[in-house]
Amino acid sequence: MMGDATSSVNSSRSTSPDAHIANDSWYCGSVFDIGGSLLKDTMREELNKKFLLTKSNGSKQRTIPASILHDEHGLRMWAEINRMPDYYQTRDEIALLEQNSKDLARHLKGAYTLIDLGCGDVRKVQPLLDTLDAMQVPVQYFALDLSKAVLVDCMRKLRPRYRHVQCFGLWGTFDDCLKWAKNVHSPKCYMSLGSMFGNDHFKEAVGRLKAWTDIMRPQDLMLLGLDGTQDRDAIWRSYHDEQGLFHNFIRNGMVHSNAVLGHEWFKPQDWDISGEFQDFPLMHRFVIQARRDVRCEPLGLSFRRGYKIVCYEGFKYEPAMMQKQFAAAGLKNLKQWKSPSGRIYQYLACRASLAAETLQ
Ligand SMILES: C[S@@+](CC[C@H](N)C(=O)[O-])C[C@H]1O[C@@H](n2cnc3c(N)ncnc32)[C@H](O)[C@@H]1O
Repeated sequence: MMGDATSSVNSSRSTSPDAHIANDSWYCGSVFDIGGSLLKDTMREELNKKFLLTKSNGSKQRTIPASILHDEHGLRMWAEINRMPDYYQTRDEIALLEQNSKDLARHLKGAYTLIDLGCGDVRKVQPLLDTLDAMQVPVQYFALDLSKAVLVDCMRKLRPRYRHVQCFGLWGTFDDCLKWAKNVHSPKCYMSLGSMFGNDHFKEAVGRLKAWTDIMRPQDLMLLGLDGTQDRDAIWRSYHDEQGLFHNFIRNGMVHSNAVLGHEWFKPQDWDISGEFQDFPLMHRFVIQARRDVRCEPLGLSFRRGYKIVCYEGFKYEPAMMQKQFAAAGLKNLKQWKSPSGRIYQYLACRASLAAETLQ
């Protein structure tokens, strides 16, 4: 279906993305399948591995991977959640991008490829793309996420908006994108907006960042947006809205795990959803607690009444802690900005060893 780029999905597992860009048959608004069509298998593997016993504060804790929460329905719910009056994270980071995008755009002159890792509904990135387009900075913008249908909608929204910014979708996981990005030779700016990379227990956060650091070349950059607020009331209100939208989002993710596992082990009436804080560092997470004994046959797991599964851990790291993460992951923080509200930070980083080599 040439000409109606947004309605098609292209399989690009074996070809170089640079070739797509150069090749006339790949057109603005295309969505490339870089592993998305295998998502069910990937998610099942992740659930096997990650439904998981992680170590938290010295104790073992089962968690649900974030990818399970973001099926198409979850992503549509997320688009509603991020518009709620108390959900300051999206509103504040948009305000931050409106404020800093001219400054940021100056770092992106030089035919950059922007890779938006977990683009969501692409609402947040628009102030940056608008600025780049107005400044006539030619960039290729690749939006990565887990739902093909949502990516197609995003491309339909973005494509007519820009003349100098070429927009594409990438359907797949972060791991798929790591493999894909290795073959992109133009300078890249990896973007993790909305507290994703860097938002984990310290060791795990550093490990995930390091995987990207390892593939970064001299001109490559990473833009990270992270919530650093320590205001517990604001945090609580943002996750526990009166309508219960956020709780429904978590519940939907658990129901999605039934589809991934091919077995209805999760019945909403058997579980309570609540939230809790941990300190040092401040973190909020959702707790899904069994109301009765529950068996998850496909994974061979039994949960006694009262058992707690956690998910959606939101660490609120302040800049000093992020500097420690960057140092441990081999990144050098080039610049940082704070949202007008003072709650959200963005950091622009490059690979530390390469920064040192460039300076010599
Ligand atoms: C908190 S939302 C942030 C969305 C957007 N960046 C923003 O700031 O508004 C997290 C996004 O990451 C995506 N995501 C989560 N796990 C992922 C994975 N393993 N691979 C690719 N995308 C993932 C979700 O689908 C979702 O769109």
